[in-house]
Amino acid sequence: MSVYQTISVDLGDRSYPIVIGRGFMDGNFNLADYVHGPDCLIVSNETVAPLYLDKLRPNLADRDITSISLADGESFKTLATMQTILDKLVTSGANRDTTIIALGGGVVGDIAGFAAACYMRGVAFVQVPTTLLAQVDSSVGGKTGVNHEKGKNLIGAFHQPQVVLIDTDTLDTLPAREFRAGLAEVIKYGAICDPAFFAWLESNMVALLEKDPEVLAHAIQRSCEIKAEVVAEDEREAGRRAILNFGHTFGHAIERCLGYGEWLHGEAVAAGMIMAAQLSGIAAADLSRLKELITAAGLPTEAPAIAGERWIEAMGMDKKALQKQLRFVLLRSLGEAYVSADYDRARLTALTGAPA
Ligand code: NAD
Ligand code: GLY
Repeated sequence: MSVYQTISVDLGDRSYPIVIGRGFMDGNFNLADYVHGPDCLIVSNETVAPLYLDKLRPNLADRDITSISLADGESFKTLATMQTILDKLVTSGANRDTTIIALGGGVVGDIAGFAAACYMRGVAFVQVPTTLLAQVDSSVGGKTGVNHEKGKNLIGAFHQPQVVLIDTDTLDTLPAREFRAGLAEVIKYGAICDPAFFAWLESNMVALLEKDPEVLAHAIQRSCEIKAEVVAEDEREAGRRAILNFGHTFGHAIERCLGYGEWLHGEAVAAGMIMAAQLSGIAAADLSRLKELITAAGLPTEAPAIAGERWIEAMGMDKKALQKQLRFVLLRSLGEAYVSADYDRARLTALTGAPA
């Protein structure tokens, strides 16, 4: 086992560590330290459970372990799926001191976390993310929830985990397309607040795609540091945290208009970041660098064809919208983001075909 880094998410009495390393499975990391009651429910899915469920069990010492395996896919990120977790908790006699452990990607983490937020008004929760996207983004920060057919993540709660355990070895089995989708969120961090990290990614994208262990560990570490810092400053997204949604207003609309799961979340965010940068009117050189890095990561730089009115309807469900006004995360330059409802209407029309 190697621990590369432990990062703290500083939230007072709800602070927790993000432990990044490799070789944690098969009992090599004592996850039971974070499971304070006698029992736990491991929530995974039909793809991840066969790969890692039995490898995680020895990390839980003498805890009484129940598990549930969900159907795989964004289209199952629904209240109906969450209900199956709640049913399992009830039928297995789970109490307030039960811990829910999410073992999987962002879909499993978001649903399991929401079940943990709701069951008996909140039980403890542990994140063991197994996709790059979940390791750099969704497992950190306490946003949990499910989709509604009218919009992404419309139903949910803030519920912070006890610990985030990132074993980079789990990425060995992740399909290449999913790995690349996770890179969109890594690139996002550089684009919104760390120009040096953006430049580092430009120099290291080839090694990152080859999963060079040191390069991969640094990319995950720097992403988690940025996320932890932003979340500690603005846990409930009263302000700055919204910058983490750079590219997501367009991206969520793409996911919804195509049907959840057609484009991966990270792919939609990649194309969405280009649209948001174009809406921002940043310097041509900055826009080119963003396009080149997204292309180097093997991600799309152009959105699929969507009718203008569908864009507007889908973006209208964005959670950043206030007083029926769309708000976007915009860039002043690469590495500096802000949130505004004061965007260039003509540019939005040019980008989406929607009337101003
Ligand atoms: P995902 O959870 O669907 O996982 C992608 C695919 O990889 C799935 O088929 C999964 O079964 C499989 N998989 C997972 N780990 C694997 C492994 N180690 N080996 C082989 N296969 C593996 O998708 P994702 O990209 O991880 O997460 C996307 C979701 O995260 C979206 O619903 C998005 O809205 C959400 N999200 C949430 C936050 C947040 O702050 N809560 C942030 C970003 C994204
Ligand atoms: N992924 C956006 C956030 O956690 O706020």
